[in-house]
Amino acid sequence: MNPQEPTASVALDKAHAWHPFTPLDEWLDPNHQPVMIASGHGSWLVDEEGKAYLDGNSSIWTNIHGHCHPLMVQALQEQLTVLDHSSYLGLGHSVGSALARKLSPLTSLQRTLFSSDGSSAMEAALKIATQYFQQNGSPERKVFVTLEGAYHGDTIGNMSLGKSPLMHHPFEHLLFPTQSIPMPGCYRCPFNQAKFEQADARSYRKCQWECVSKAEEKMLHYGTEMAALVIEPRVQGAAGMVMQPEGYFEKVAEMTHSHDALLIVDEVFTGFGRTGEMLACNPTLSKPDIIALGKGLTGGVLPMAATAVSETLFNGFKGSFEKTFFHGHSYTANPLSARAALTNLEIFESESTIQKVKTLSLHLQKISSVFWKHPYVGDVRQEGLILAIELVQDLNRKIPFPFTERVAHKINKIAESKGVLTRGIGSILFLVPPYSTTENELEQMVQILDDSIKDYFKRV
Ligand SMILES: Cc1ncc(COP(=O)(O)O)c(C=O)c1O
Repeated sequence: MNPQEPTASVALDKAHAWHPFTPLDEWLDPNHQPVMIASGHGSWLVDEEGKAYLDGNSSIWTNIHGHCHPLMVQALQEQLTVLDHSSYLGLGHSVGSALARKLSPLTSLQRTLFSSDGSSAMEAALKIATQYFQQNGSPERKVFVTLEGAYHGDTIGNMSLGKSPLMHHPFEHLLFPTQSIPMPGCYRCPFNQAKFEQADARSYRKCQWECVSKAEEKMLHYGTEMAALVIEPRVQGAAGMVMQPEGYFEKVAEMTHSHDALLIVDEVFTGFGRTGEMLACNPTLSKPDIIALGKGLTGGVLPMAATAVSETLFNGFKGSFEKTFFHGHSYTANPLSARAALTNLEIFESESTIQKVKTLSLHLQKISSVFWKHPYVGDVRQEGLILAIELVQDLNRKIPFPFTERVAHKINKIAESKGVLTRGIGSILFLVPPYSTTENELEQMVQILDDSIKDYFKRV
């Protein structure tokens, strides 16, 4: 077929669909033949032309046990014959109850408010914290403290937590003020005095935990006005897979509690085994007041998210009609999604998935050393099944390639042509494979990404 001639589904797509985070001119360019996914199985996705791709970003960090896992297919088929959907506003259903019950020991939090995506789970967290303080004697607690570069979703509330100049400048006037503390990423940390080594920058950092001191200063400054610290534990995903030095999260969590502010932990990306533990935060030790879950909650099969909340917070909404949390969505606790989430957790148990992730992570650690041979690699860092390769144009001065050069995007396009789908940011490449990935498939992903880096720098 003439590559200029779009297939029927591409033509329809280009005429009617709007893809998120996608520059339109590029997408609509007549020479651009987008990949149209037709089916998925295990760690593979197959396009309409029959070409197979390894899903190297777990379909935007959602997929857990591989595509179309037979137990998931069976459970959803069953559920569909019993109850498809029913409102959760003033009604309940057994799959919703069972899931809320099952999540409680995981989060060490008693209550769960369901929603449909990570942004909504985080938005609910912000509103719960705000309303809780207003109606429980601390209305002055309004300040949310966040990490620099934070990304918690695309709603107005979540954009306020993040404030990316590129993405948010048209909305500046709509965003509420928040306070940020330094991004705890050792590779780019201004306080890290270590000279460059070919290793994860966390392993050779030389600092005095200045990032924690700065956080303390900020919390002291806002004191009783601080509502909450909002934080992704261990890895800030969309910030560029910024990985925290061991102990950082625990230190700022403890500090937050000492200021009687709430600890809101965003596990939308890091949850469900991604870092090698069910949750990245160890809730029994760090004691979050709120944990947001999403993405992997349903195994990456159906949209669902959850805001897990302590009993203390929940109780703060009792006592009068006016204290009600007037917030929710039409599809809250959709029974199919809830059944998918329950099945996801069952597969975790029946297939010892966490052990599988740990074993696969060790293999990834071993084989990813290959990336150091490229002259433009400044940092290779990993947590569980999250790998980031940071490319720089000047190793000693750690100068990144200009964001507008979209180096990661171009390398990812080469990888796509070779059969691996993944999506980096700026000049940072990511590999976030499904847990069903075999060692051999993981080796293919690494090999193809490695070849794609080589090809890109040969071309430019
Ligand atoms: C940490 C984190 N929080 C929240 C979100 C928003 O989730 P969603 O895209 O499902 O709205 C994301 C999405 O990437 C995320 O990485």
